[in-house]
Amino acid sequence: MLHLVEHPIIRERLTQIRSTDSDTAAFRHALHDIARLMCFPVTANLETSVTEVETPLTKTDGHELIRPIVLVPILRAGAGMMQGFSEILSEASVGYIGLYRDEKTHQPHRYYCKMPPNLAEADVIMIDPMLATGGSAADAADELKELGASRIHFACLIAAPEGVKVFEERHPDIPVFTASLDERLNEDAYIVPGLGDAGDRYFGT
Ligand code: PRP
Ligand code: URA
Repeated sequence: MLHLVEHPIIRERLTQIRSTDSDTAAFRHALHDIARLMCFPVTANLETSVTEVETPLTKTDGHELIRPIVLVPILRAGAGMMQGFSEILSEASVGYIGLYRDEKTHQPHRYYCKMPPNLAEADVIMIDPMLATGGSAADAADELKELGASRIHFACLIAAPEGVKVFEERHPDIPVFTASLDERLNEDAYIVPGLGDAGDRYFGT
């Protein structure tokens, strides 16, 4: 269920994002662009039904999405991919999950969750730039399923093989879209080569 998103502009923006030469503004621009481009493959299999549309000239067949869309950024860094996704999916509702990793144990701690009421009937798109140990994304998906979501997609920017394995074991039903499958985690559970701390780089903290 791992989809590697290949696109020359994404490759170029990812290089900017990784670089220590990129300041906060450059990092933000590049992440916004990648999120906008990733929205297309992530939503490529959403189902539509045929509907009738009246143009100024005649009636013809049109298409409408069968289900509502809920975007779920994982705070903080997931908020950095919201602009790109919500520009395309302006009709989507938005639910937020707040998680941070404990620096020593690397386990995720949940501090916030606010979801729209239509999770059960929606196509839910979870977004977070980093899939490292996989703990944060897997816990967020647990929470979404407990709240009734059954059609979940996960979009990230960089994944580590260790995190992909954990996530696939815990959520084999959820497709994962990533712009890069990196080499490994280091001893601090950071992705190598990675980009460092996504939240700190996006928010300038
Ligand atoms: C980062 C990132 C993911 C998580 C991934 O968040 O945005 O949510 O780490 O790591 P994992 O796969 O090992 O769980 P972080 O905990 O740094 O919080 P922040 O976004 O608030 O900085
Ligand atoms: N979270 C980050 O922001 N970066 C990593 O490399 C791993 C987890």
